[in-house]
Amino acid sequence: MCGIVGACAQRDVAAVLLEGLRRLEYRGYDSAGMAVIDRDGSLSRTRVSGRVDDLAAALEPELPTGGTGVAHTRWATHGVPNELNAHPHTAAGEVAVVHNGIIENHERLRERLTATGYTFLSETDTEVAATLFADRHRAGASLLEAVRGSIADLEGAYAFAVISAREPGRMVACRRGSPLVIGVGIGEHFIASDVAALLPVTRQFIFLEDGDIADIRRDAVTVYDTDGRAVERPVRSSELSPDAVERGGYRHFMAKEIHEQPAAVAETLEGRHADGRVLETAFGPGAAALLDRVERLQIVACGTSYHAGIIARYWAEAYAGLPCEVEVASEFRYRAHAVAPGTLVVLISQSGETADVLAALRESRRLGYAGALAICNVPESSLVREADLTLLTRAGPEIGVASTKAFTTQLTALLLLVGALARRRGRPQAEGDLVRAAVGLPGDLESALAVEPQVAALAEQLVDRAHALFLGRGPHFPVALEGSLKLKEISYIHAEAYPAGELKHGPLALVDGEMPVVAVAPRDDLLDKLRSNLQEVRARGGRLYVFADDAAALRSEAGFHVLPVPAGPEPTSPVIHTVPLQLLAYHVAVLRGTDVDKPRNLAKSVTVE
Ligand code: M6R
Repeated sequence: MCGIVGACAQRDVAAVLLEGLRRLEYRGYDSAGMAVIDRDGSLSRTRVSGRVDDLAAALEPELPTGGTGVAHTRWATHGVPNELNAHPHTAAGEVAVVHNGIIENHERLRERLTATGYTFLSETDTEVAATLFADRHRAGASLLEAVRGSIADLEGAYAFAVISAREPGRMVACRRGSPLVIGVGIGEHFIASDVAALLPVTRQFIFLEDGDIADIRRDAVTVYDTDGRAVERPVRSSELSPDAVERGGYRHFMAKEIHEQPAAVAETLEGRHADGRVLETAFGPGAAALLDRVERLQIVACGTSYHAGIIARYWAEAYAGLPCEVEVASEFRYRAHAVAPGTLVVLISQSGETADVLAALRESRRLGYAGALAICNVPESSLVREADLTLLTRAGPEIGVASTKAFTTQLTALLLLVGALARRRGRPQAEGDLVRAAVGLPGDLESALAVEPQVAALAEQLVDRAHALFLGRGPHFPVALEGSLKLKEISYIHAEAYPAGELKHGPLALVDGEMPVVAVAPRDDLLDKLRSNLQEVRARGGRLYVFADDAAALRSEAGFHVLPVPAGPEPTSPVIHTVPLQLLAYHVAVLRGTDVDKPRNLAKSVTVE
């Protein structure tokens, strides 16, 4: 939530900051702003309600000059998205602050500062922090000391970048709970919420740890840990190329990312299996000892990642014979737990920065779970750093807010995990089946993508609908959940998913001639039962759109549209059936003219509770 970028350089940095914001816009996009200190030490600030393009327009005809600057693209938490609440926030006319996160005790601090004579122009927690920094700075503290002294008073999560007109050429950055990286250039340094923002200017990065505060100048960076000790944080090279975050000829990132799935899955499998067996090195050092102790799984995640977890539960119990629970992180972290011995917590997150998932990981430590394994797409994320074991998905940067390739690569990683556990449970045959199915997945996904023209045609029938029902059974029920989430988040059509057998327990009341019902119908043991459920819909005049694999032998009739999905092996069938539902949501959204990659009210990475 929110993207921040900053720079200390000899050159003018406004263009670098703008490009950084464009690359961070997936994190929030309701308002944007920039503050720059020029060579004479004067601070200029521009803010807009709206997108980074609106900010660029507001900065026309000439970008501000100056080598020290910070910029921000916002996802509102405190205060409506307007210019007044947009970042950077300034205080005392000399300090400018950009912030990602939430300061939970901001009201108490605001009262305290108001009592000493300060007034506030915005409703934000950030302006309160800016005022705290400026108050100490005005009293004589250096910018570093002012920030260091003030953050002790802050409760909550933050990544800050702070500049002062009194100290041009210096930027102080710190993080607790929200991501922040330093980009190391030649005679210049940058900060950002994500490496993607800085790829046009550097490939060298320092990943700040929780509690770190960095004193950044053009030619030097000093990092202090929570105890105030100067510490060395390694400089790492990113292998991402700057165009990894370009649309590459596609109209939307989401379309590009849907089509990247065969390659992303192949990449996720690369070097992680041999001779029908999962290679445990994939999970990192110490994997064998921890996996040996696993008696059950507790999967924790949010949103799309949670849906991947539900599919994995079917796999874990069916193929590895392992009891498995799945829960959304925001619930897991706040309830009492009865922890069974040998329970491995599996945390699934594309970003590895989702606040509820990180809190769940920390809570699981307190509760005495056997260990924590992260399935994550971002190697430098907080989740990866804090988990005992990690299985990285290798989807590459996912920019579209609606998760697609992250989901299918998470499922690929989960297949490997279940395979490794199946062997430990004395089921080498099951491990072999899972590995074989996974190896065939890139090709199966290519075939599934080939149904795009039929799906695009179907989208025309859904475009004017206000509601839709999605149905599935067994491991294809979470596929229906994921399909409905995709549709609602990018097309704003209200969509609900149900296990098809639940229909007659309530949702059937919604079915009439106006209600599209999308069903996932693989050729499996539940197909006959699903057919009966579909008849219940037909009898009420519902319009059925059935994604059926070739082997299910379903035929289209009036009110019963069958869309063929290439059949795959049983374990990977849910992954294959996901693709046409992603395409359906995408094409409906395009027809409705929504902002596909940046749907309203959402942000890619939910780093606040
Ligand atoms: O980065 P994470 O996987 O932890 O994110 C979890 C959810 O916020 C995310 O999957 C969200 O539901 C997506 N917008 C779904 O498309």
